[in-house]
Amino acid sequence: MLAETIAYATSYFATPEPFRPHINEAVGLWSRGRRQAQAWGPHAGETSRSITGLMETLPTHRTVAVLGSGPLFDVPVEALAARFARVILVDRAHLSPARRRTRRLSNVRHDWRDLSTATTADPLGFLAAIPDLDWVISVNLASQLGVDAPFGQERRVIEAHLADLTRLPCPVTVVTDISFRTVDRAGREHERFDLMHGHPMPRPARTWHWEVAPHGEENRVTRREHVVAFYPDWHEASRRKP
Ligand SMILES: C[S@@+](CC[C@H](N)C(=O)[O-])C[C@H]1O[C@@H](n2cnc3c(N)ncnc32)[C@H](O)[C@@H]1O
Repeated sequence: MLAETIAYATSYFATPEPFRPHINEAVGLWSRGRRQAQAWGPHAGETSRSITGLMETLPTHRTVAVLGSGPLFDVPVEALAARFARVILVDRAHLSPARRRTRRLSNVRHDWRDLSTATTADPLGFLAAIPDLDWVISVNLASQLGVDAPFGQERRVIEAHLADLTRLPCPVTVVTDISFRTVDRAGREHERFDLMHGHPMPRPARTWHWEVAPHGEENRVTRREHVVAFYPDWHEASRRKP
């Protein structure tokens, strides 16, 4: 609790005023990530290695924008900063622990933005003003946009994000959890949920499991496990039929 209070307090004044309402939720995510570091480790490692592995496939390394960077659990920010001239981390919350991690990386910038069409007109429009943008990575953001969308608009908001990514002129990579299931200790499935809200996703290059809530985190009966999909080349993937 003390760590959370400190994270909140030290993030408050560094956060632009319109984004301060998101600090609380971001502290909750950061706190859960720390508490479940062991359970989240394989997912964070998969995501980070997938991103790092793609870096050398890009012809130029001027600017990379990471959408949904938040607490930086999944983002290999040091590796990106070592390879790219400029790294722009975009989220509606950048807490002090994430900013401490990038403090010595002089080519890394935190950019506070709301990336949902539910609240912002043309939320990815700002990317067009970055002339040397060589890569955009959407990192475990798409499903979250659906979670926070007004009831009934979840699918539309997710589709708008994915369609906006499709229209970008540079290489785009998408990592997103696409579904979850809850399972009890006997292995019986209790619930299955489509985090894409019916939007048919193309076949991913790779998937893995993310143990978001091990037994005891949310209740005593079930644990919650997500399926994460990796699309190294979103332009190519989005041209394919689901
Ligand atoms: C599952 S977390 C991503 C984790 C992150 N990639 C990491 O490395 O730890 C989802 C992120 O999406 C951000 N987010 C959710 N809705 C958003 C919105 N409308 N605009 C910008 N960021 C948003 C949250 O603040 C959070 O950091």
